[in-house]
Amino acid sequence: MIKRSLLLVVFVFSIFVGSVRADEGMWLLSLIGKNYEQMKAEGFQLTPEDIYSVNHSSLKDAVGALGNAEYGKFGFFCSSEIISPKGLVLTNHHCGYEAIQSKSTVDHDYLRDGFWAYNMSQEIPIEGMTISYLVRMEDVTSKVLANVTDDMTESQRDAEIQKVSQKLVKEATKGTDYIAHVKKMFDGNQYFLFVYITYKDIRLVGAPPSSIGKFGGDTDNWMWPRHTGDFSMFRIYTAPDGKPATYSKNNVPLNPKHFFPISLKGVKKNDFAMIMGYPGSTERYLTSYGVKQALEVKNPATIAIRDKKLAIMRKYMNADHAIKIQYAAKYAETANYWKYFIGQNKGIKRLHVIEKKQELEKKLMEWASQNPERQKKYGWILDTISNFYEKNKERDLAQTYLYEALFQGAEIITFPLRFYRFEKMLENPNAPKDVIDEQVKSLKEEADKFFKDYNVNVDKDIFVALGEMYLKTLPEKYQPETFLKIKKKYKGNFRKFANKVLYKKSIFTDKSKVEAFLNKPEAKVLQKDPAFKLAEDVIKLYLNFGGQKPDEFRKARRLFVGGLMKMQKDKLFYPDANSTIRLTYGTVQDYYPRDAVHYNYFTTLKGVMEKEDPNNPEFIVPKKLKELYEKKDYGQYADADGTMHVCFLTNNDITGGNSGSPVLNAKGELIGAAFDGNWEAMSGDIAFEPSLQRTIVVDIRYVLFIIDKYAGAKNLINEMKLVKD
Ligand code: ARG
Repeated sequence: MIKRSLLLVVFVFSIFVGSVRADEGMWLLSLIGKNYEQMKAEGFQLTPEDIYSVNHSSLKDAVGALGNAEYGKFGFFCSSEIISPKGLVLTNHHCGYEAIQSKSTVDHDYLRDGFWAYNMSQEIPIEGMTISYLVRMEDVTSKVLANVTDDMTESQRDAEIQKVSQKLVKEATKGTDYIAHVKKMFDGNQYFLFVYITYKDIRLVGAPPSSIGKFGGDTDNWMWPRHTGDFSMFRIYTAPDGKPATYSKNNVPLNPKHFFPISLKGVKKNDFAMIMGYPGSTERYLTSYGVKQALEVKNPATIAIRDKKLAIMRKYMNADHAIKIQYAAKYAETANYWKYFIGQNKGIKRLHVIEKKQELEKKLMEWASQNPERQKKYGWILDTISNFYEKNKERDLAQTYLYEALFQGAEIITFPLRFYRFEKMLENPNAPKDVIDEQVKSLKEEADKFFKDYNVNVDKDIFVALGEMYLKTLPEKYQPETFLKIKKKYKGNFRKFANKVLYKKSIFTDKSKVEAFLNKPEAKVLQKDPAFKLAEDVIKLYLNFGGQKPDEFRKARRLFVGGLMKMQKDKLFYPDANSTIRLTYGTVQDYYPRDAVHYNYFTTLKGVMEKEDPNNPEFIVPKKLKELYEKKDYGQYADADGTMHVCFLTNNDITGGNSGSPVLNAKGELIGAAFDGNWEAMSGDIAFEPSLQRTIVVDIRYVLFIIDKYAGAKNLINEMKLVKD
């Protein structure tokens, strides 16, 4: 979970005098040649062509982005790697969590007990899951900016860029089943085209029980020392001709262009390590004003809203096994970033992030003042940015509430949102029948999936708690119409409104009612529905204040980042993470979290036993694992020191989205899967902290040990390519 700006690094170095070169940077693969000398100096033994090539198979061909039909074509949420010639894919347990959960029931609780396919016929298809691979990428900056002029507004500029981008996407995908998009880099100073191939028949192959895959739970999350076997496995299937296809009995395992051999050698401090994956988003070029706003407005609100939501889910989950399964993924996702924002705020303060950004801004303004032309171009931007944040505190708070309390709040609001387009279709007398039928079919599938994991009591409590909070916190102009009605007619009593109207009259609390509607869909049913009405209110709010920031601000942002790059001409810059494939290189490293404390770079199974607590569900150790530990039955997976290594650290630069990424040695062999960042550097998405920021990796030997010795799934080990020296 990390990334950084080079300017900042130089500055940061002047404060923390560490002996270790820290490896900030989420580099674009097609430009990796620029980093090559440094990579070699750190021990890398392959070439840039081995990493990214359009003409030959290369490492990138084995690095997949996990997606889900529900999140759209490019909604990548995790990373993964192919580890056998039969399309076997490794990722994190927390990345497979929702898939594992979706197939779990009280009788077959794969979250609690794990799941292993001992032959291919036992693998479980996961509807909607996708894995995408980069086919090629191209710097298209000069193409998309060809007709852009300095006097355009940002909106005009964006419209022009979008026009060209659409053309480029069309050309890149014509006659293929590829998908493509053009992504903005450096806040609009560069543009890249990315072309992908997406596989759609993905099957669950293996997952350890949560007591291994999520060992340490939320207590250990975002923290080192860690003892989690955070992995799960899937397999990609294709049509018999090798092309992507949705699930079919006749599909065959993918024959990949590349898969990673697995190193059994283990790692030592200072060993070269690199990670390829799909980091989601970072804000390394955020200004001090933006950081301050996050610290004071966004983060505290996010934490407070999530606190409430988590407490409600926890209460029901602890009381009922079925609800525990239903809400496991929702809970984990909410808790993960709840803790993240708590840590980010601590980090911003402890590591003086605002002060460091101010220093950089001062330098930029000094540089700008050195000549009149620069002064004219850049002199104004920080005033515009700071004014914007100052004037928009309340709007920012409202935006946070909109996202956290409404768009991610009660599902009585979010589920009907999926019917918004459908209602427009039903209203349109010219809408073709086959399009409507198609929608009905997919909404039925979504309803099926939705109601499997829906409990009306949990949802109602969330609606009441977050609704009251929203109404109390924000002024009228940010309120959904329905909330104003609750204030007036129900004296702000959300419970009463929920009982008498929302959860009583809406069809969206009950699968059979939604199905009945879909069997005979009429717009007026939706128009009368109080939950649908509330969803419409929320969309209105989004259109009013939830979207893009104003043109002036965006222009200032673009020039701010562009100015930093111009000021440091000889420096290598990397763009903020944006769910496109990146590479980060560095070394295996320990660290000193605070005064007088040293953290070693690896953990062992002994630490699992030390943390064991049969009375705490987060720290239960499965009996079988204890037996293996007691017998020291580690086979070929033991370290040279005779112990079983569980996790290790590198100084690579990753962030959310990188979860599941392959961690590779100097030869491009797999040594682990990245799964987390560390507590002392939680502000790392805003400013990389060389002396403190680490990537937490599950050692590949622990993964294989669990598959082989714990689960006895030798079938999987046999299809991998193990490298012993
Ligand atoms: N913090 C990790 C990430 O964002 C997720 C770890 C999941 N484990 C957990 N105990 N929630 O990638």
